[in-house]
Amino acid sequence: GSLEEMSLPLYFGWFLLSSIQDKVRCTSMDFLKTLDTLEAFKKHLIDFTGKAEKEVDLEQYFQAKGTLHCTTMFCNYGKAEGAKEYAQNPAVKDLYGSAFELSLSALFVTPRTVGARVSLSEEQLLLWPADAEKAAESAPLPLGSRAHVTLGCAEGVEPLQTGLDLLEILALPNGELIEEMELGSLTYYGEGRWLLALREPICTPACFSSFYD
Ligand code: A2P
Repeated sequence: GSLEEMSLPLYFGWFLLSSIQDKVRCTSMDFLKTLDTLEAFKKHLIDFTGKAEKEVDLEQYFQAKGTLHCTTMFCNYGKAEGAKEYAQNPAVKDLYGSAFELSLSALFVTPRTVGARVSLSEEQLLLWPADAEKAAESAPLPLGSRAHVTLGCAEGVEPLQTGLDLLEILALPNGELIEEMELGSLTYYGEGRWLLALREPICTPACFSSFYD
């Protein structure tokens, strides 16, 4: 590795303001608590436990991971494909260190991850890598579909899984509308996949920056 490669971060992304992080964590905890008690959720518990009639405490099931952020580009210190090109993109250079307002439009839960979907604006899409959605095994999804904040992962699951879970949900033609909750409408997509479309998106200030471990 040359010095130039060394200077690339682990990842670029939007980092949520710390006071809003608490609010987002609380909203997600409330959602998990409510989901846990729904008959419709209990009916599909086996997706989470592997066994019928086994209880699950969703708040314990997922482990939180570090500071809340929406990854734009995972660079792995320059080892990831396209990392250098991304870092040299004029939009990335110009907007580095700028403040943005992110819109969290949905919460989703699978047996592997819990996350928030981020709906990107036109300007925010300038910072989104062109091939981020390629990981979807389905027909191509619109640019920015994968944008998310990882809120928690089940034991042994890497955060990278959250974006893949979101792409999987978005690729499914239609779920089963379960109920209108206070926070929004809850849809079930089978195999333990749940999505709550927020009635009022959560708007959060976030700084476009990078992370080095
Ligand atoms: P995510 O963006 O879903 O939260 P780690 O700590 O595992 O090295 O990951 C650091 C961040 O980069 C996490 O936020 C993680 O997932 C994201 N990430 C890790 N690996 C990848 C990858 N291969 N592709 C895209 N994002 C990744």
